[in-house]
This record gives sequence, structure tokens and C-alpha cells, in this order.
Amino acid sequence: MSGRGAPVGSGDTSPGGTGAKADAKADAKALSPAPAGAVVVGASGGLGAAFVAALRARADVSTVLALSRSGPHDDGAAPEAGVVRARIDLTDEASIAAAAALARTLAPPRWVIVATGLLHAPDGLRPEKSLAMLDGARMARLFAVNATGPALVAKHFLPLMPREGRAVFAAVSARVGSISDNRLGGWYGYRASKAALNMLLRTAAIEWARTAREGVCVGLHPGTVDTALSRPFQAGVPEGRLFGADESAAKLLAVLDGLGPADSGRVFAWDGSEVPA
Ligand SMILES: NC(=O)c1ccc[n+]([C@@H]2O[C@H](COP(=O)([O-])OP(=O)(O)OC[C@H]3O[C@@H](n4cnc5c(N)ncnc54)[C@H](OP(=O)(O)O)[C@@H]3O)[C@@H](O)[C@H]2O)c1
Repeated sequence: MSGRGAPVGSGDTSPGGTGAKADAKADAKALSPAPAGAVVVGASGGLGAAFVAALRARADVSTVLALSRSGPHDDGAAPEAGVVRARIDLTDEASIAAAAALARTLAPPRWVIVATGLLHAPDGLRPEKSLAMLDGARMARLFAVNATGPALVAKHFLPLMPREGRAVFAAVSARVGSISDNRLGGWYGYRASKAALNMLLRTAAIEWARTAREGVCVGLHPGTVDTALSRPFQAGVPEGRLFGADESAAKLLAVLDGLGPADSGRVFAWDGSEVPA
């Protein structure tokens, strides 16, 4: 990590409008530019919902655009203070473009966090243990959600992010996407789609740096988190290493607060360590 200082108010991740939060907001107003927008893709998921809650509580964030496939969606009516909920399907680029059009009507986003992902599904999609289990259509589905989708989010949302000052685009990847760290094998489609995601993020980081010098575009490994995605695979997780979603999201936001432009294009774990390519 570059050791860049956290932005004003970044320590305030407490939910609700407390007096302390109001003070932090006042301080932030005095010392920094106007609070910016934030976007979370995958707000219906375990980690995505936790990111929405944590970003909403920050003094340096005014509005969170919470995007999800399964909802809830308010289509711009925003009944919840500070949160606008709308639809996105990463396999439908028109829906990503429509979500970006909605984002244009809100505060420019200094944060875009993609917390979508696919590992297994009720229709029989499950991680492959051997080559014999490979199925082209299922692999294509994993790549569409885990790699192509987040890249299309970058295509439509990076141009909306401020060119001046710090801006963070992060996509939740996974340690199993590390090629050099792959010692166990298996999980072909998920691993390969996360490795592809990491490459897409690095390539986007290089392009984005030409226009946004303080932009940080990274992948994240959240640890093993108690969500629907990990639930069938939690049996062997060591004691104390299964994180709650709120805990993981808070750790990842703290890691992001410490990153600078020199870190862009890399992948970082919940504890701040770099995940090797
Ligand atoms: N949990 C872990 O231990 C763990 C470990 C390493 C990495 N990760 C990564 O962390 C990220 C978040 O996963 P999670 O643990 O929070 O799992 P989760 O609760 O199952 O959330 C996954 C999210 O992905 C969304 N999604 C799937 N396909 C989509 C599509 N086509 N369009 C839009 N959204 C789509 C789901 O939306 P709908 O339900 O609305 O369809 C859901 O919100 C994933 O990238 C995952 O690979 C998780």
C-alpha cells in the first residue's frame, strides 16, 4: 500500500445519524470538497448490502446508488434517506447503461464498488472438481458475471467519476483468482473468471490513469464471508476466519482508504496485503 492518508471522515462508519456523525459531517464540510456520490453494484448480496450501509454512514458520501438485479428498486423515488435503489443485470449491458444514466443525475461518484459474483446456483451450477466437469455454457455464465460484467460497469461508470481528486473503483475478486497462489486446483470457471477480472481491472487502471491521476482501480479479496455464495463451502473454515459481511466490508473500506494511485491495477485482501497475480 502507498500509505496514503484516509480522507476526512473516513473513520465514521457507524450506522445512523448520531451526534458524533453530525460533528464529523461538519468537519468534513469545512475541510474537504462537497460529499460525493457512491455506487454499489450487487446491493442485494451479502457484501453488497454491507457496502451500501457502510458507505451511507460515511461523512464524505452524500448519496449511495444501490444497484441490484433482484431488488428492491425504487426507480429514483428514493424513499430511504441517502440511498437510491435501481436495477442492474450484469449480463444485460443496456441495464448497465441505464444505471449509469441514473448515476449522472446524482452527485458524481467518487466510489464505485462492484460486489456481484457467481460461484454456484440452484439450477445445478457448482464449482468443478475436475476437468471432466467442465461445461462451456456454465463457464461462459461465470465469465459473464465475474469478469465481463464488472468490466462493462467500468466502461459505463469510470467516465462519470471525477477526474480531479481521489476516486476509487473497486471490484470484489477472490484470492482463488491468483494464478501463482493456486495450489489446490479445482473451481476452474470461478478461478479463471476471477483471474480474468483481475486482468481487466489492471488494464482499465492503466487507461483510467491517463485522465484521472488520483484514480484507484483495484480488485479486493474479502476473506471468507458468511454469505449465500460461501455457505455450501464453510465447513473447513478455521475458527475465527469466517467474517460477517459488515466486518469484511468495513475492513475492505479501511484498506481502500489507505490506497493511492501507485496501488491502482492491483488486488488487495481484507488485511491490506497484496494478492499476487
Ligand atoms: N463470500 C465469500 O466468502 C467470498 C470470498 C471471496 C470472494 N467473494 C466475492 O465477493 C463478492 C460478493 O459475494 P457475496 O459473498 O456477497 O455473495 P452473495 O451474497 O451471493 O452476492 C452475490 C451478488 O451477485 C449478484 N449477481 C449475480 N449475478 C448477477 C447479475 N447477472 N447481475 C447483477 N447482479 C448479479 C447477486 O444479485 P441477485 O441476488 O440480486 O441476483 C448478489 O447480489 C463476489 O464477487 C464473490 O465472488 C466472496
